[in-house]
Amino acid sequence: DWQMSSFTARAIAEIREKVGDKRVLCALSGGVDSSVAAVMVHKAVGKQLTCIFVDHGLLRKNEGDEVEQVFREQFDINLIRVDAKDRFLNKLKGVSDPERKRKIIGEEFIRVFEEEAKKVGQVEYLVQGTIYPDVIESGAGSAANIKSHHNVGGLPKDIGFKGLIEPLRDLFKDEVRRAGIELGIPEFLVWRQPFPGPGLAIRIIGDITEDKLAILKDADAIFRQEVADAGLDRSINQYFAVLTNMRSVGVMGDERTYDYTVALRGVTTTDFMTADWAKIPYEVLGKISSRIINEVPHVNRIVYDITSKPPATIEWE
Ligand code: XMP
Repeated sequence: DWQMSSFTARAIAEIREKVGDKRVLCALSGGVDSSVAAVMVHKAVGKQLTCIFVDHGLLRKNEGDEVEQVFREQFDINLIRVDAKDRFLNKLKGVSDPERKRKIIGEEFIRVFEEEAKKVGQVEYLVQGTIYPDVIESGAGSAANIKSHHNVGGLPKDIGFKGLIEPLRDLFKDEVRRAGIELGIPEFLVWRQPFPGPGLAIRIIGDITEDKLAILKDADAIFRQEVADAGLDRSINQYFAVLTNMRSVGVMGDERTYDYTVALRGVTTTDFMTADWAKIPYEVLGKISSRIINEVPHVNRIVYDITSKPPATIEWE
């Protein structure tokens, strides 16, 4: 991909020139955009870059470790992983309103990031993984986008940065992926499906507890693994499990159970503003259902969401 390699080479040279001998900070989320941006800046200025990865405990199963592995071990990037799970869960205790969850997580995220940034010391630049569609979208209050988004993009401007570094500003998503491959970022990260900033908090309907988080992580991991094994992971644009707040009666052996319903959601879409429900083959759904029921305690019923967007949204909250 000579086109992409000349783009990344040029962008890396420009970053090096701009940064000089100053220091740079990056909020790493583990998503495609912030990962590609971080690796580009790392190639430009090496150890002058520090990445802060706020692990709010609401990531998917193993996700935090995977991010750490890639950035620390493969790229030898200065990485601070903040285990802030308890802080976030405390703040979220008893909260069931979706927009309040988002607000709490967005605010707490900034607080944790600021605290860590202070410890790093004098830093002049902040890296952001802004891509071209974000540039166009910001400001446009679209009716199809009715949920507040607290992504890592919404970082405080007042920590005293001299400037922003946004190496992906001119790229579309597919170009960001090509750049990622060019830079040697593993495919599982480059092809990662979108994941909301508030994470699993908005996929647990109602209030969030550690027990519910554990159930959802396990169910979701099985769903993702089976979708990948069926070769569907690149054709379904987003797919995940939701822990509904509903329990119902079931039977296991000769025992009556009263346990949770897990909903599976899968959509095909190009822009995430409208979406179709994904036509996952019945055999695949059947296998996912029996695996979750057999392997994840406290789940006794699985449903598949067959609504498009609109009228439903992609996430349940
Ligand atoms: P909805 O549910 O609005 O989702 O159809 C559209 C896309 O946006 C993602 N999404 C979020 N992303 N913070 C984010 O960073 C959020 O609060 C949030 N809510 C929804 C969703 O995963 C889908 O890709």
